[in-house]
Amino acid sequence: WLLLGVMGDPIAHSKSPVMHQAALAELGLQGAYVPLHIRPKGLADAISAVRSLHFRGVNVTIPHKVEVMKYLDEVDEGAAQIGAVNTIVNDNGRLKGYNTDGIGYVRSLKDEACPDLSGKRIAVLGAGGAARAIVYALIAEQPAVISILNRTEAKARELAEEWSKLADIRGFGEEASCEVLAAADVVINTTSVGMHPNIGDVPVNPDFIREGAVVSDLIYNPLKTSLLRESERRQCTVHGGLGMFVNQGAYAFEFWTGLDAPVTAMREAVLNSFR
Ligand code: ATR
Repeated sequence: WLLLGVMGDPIAHSKSPVMHQAALAELGLQGAYVPLHIRPKGLADAISAVRSLHFRGVNVTIPHKVEVMKYLDEVDEGAAQIGAVNTIVNDNGRLKGYNTDGIGYVRSLKDEACPDLSGKRIAVLGAGGAARAIVYALIAEQPAVISILNRTEAKARELAEEWSKLADIRGFGEEASCEVLAAADVVINTTSVGMHPNIGDVPVNPDFIREGAVVSDLIYNPLKTSLLRESERRQCTVHGGLGMFVNQGAYAFEFWTGLDAPVTAMREAVLNSFR
């Protein structure tokens, strides 16, 4: 019996339970994946309960991804660099934290839009927590350059500086949008601009993106943001955020079970839950 769950505040809206229940069912595994409404002051007790109730693993979401790290026995190198954990594996009471957001995103981008990222010029919009996970995972793909564009230029520069030994990473403010986007093979929006209910908003002027580029948005509500719609009109290949959500879950499922995650069934379950 495999006991799994997700801790967050709020948690009622989470699509993780429906997605992981579908994965368990697809593989014929006995178990349950439960939503756990954990407030910040209850996080330490909730992590103790992972051990005492013999959860095999949990996902951790907003607002606990950073705070949870101090309660774990071990944190994976990638998660430590990113500074956030979204997946915990319980090996007989020993808890290890991982971050599957970035690697899930990159797997989705490669599977669905851009199979080879090596040598590519990548523009990342935003320099917050989501950008950290994605930039870190992109470094392993050996792109030619990663340019981080952010409303607050200092944050983009700080992030670029932090990993400057690992890859050619540069930070820019909004005034450099035109120049950075014109040179990019792949453009990735990590900001929340364009998310429901503000579906008309775009994080950058889409006219700056060169025709034929790959344009990707982490947002999956709506499934196709205004940025992606505009980019499609410019003959760009577009990639929405649903695949990141599915693949961060798929990696977590693989860490817990040692099995290949049934990605298609997981994606279908999430899509059906929107209908
Ligand atoms: P997340 O974990 O989702 O990345 P975050 O750490 O709060 O959330 O980061 C949000 C990112 O989106 C930041 O880069 C933020 O820009 P600032 O650093 O200038 O705050 C960016 N962002 C959010 N709302 C934005 C808006 N309306 N216009 C432009 N950028 C925005």
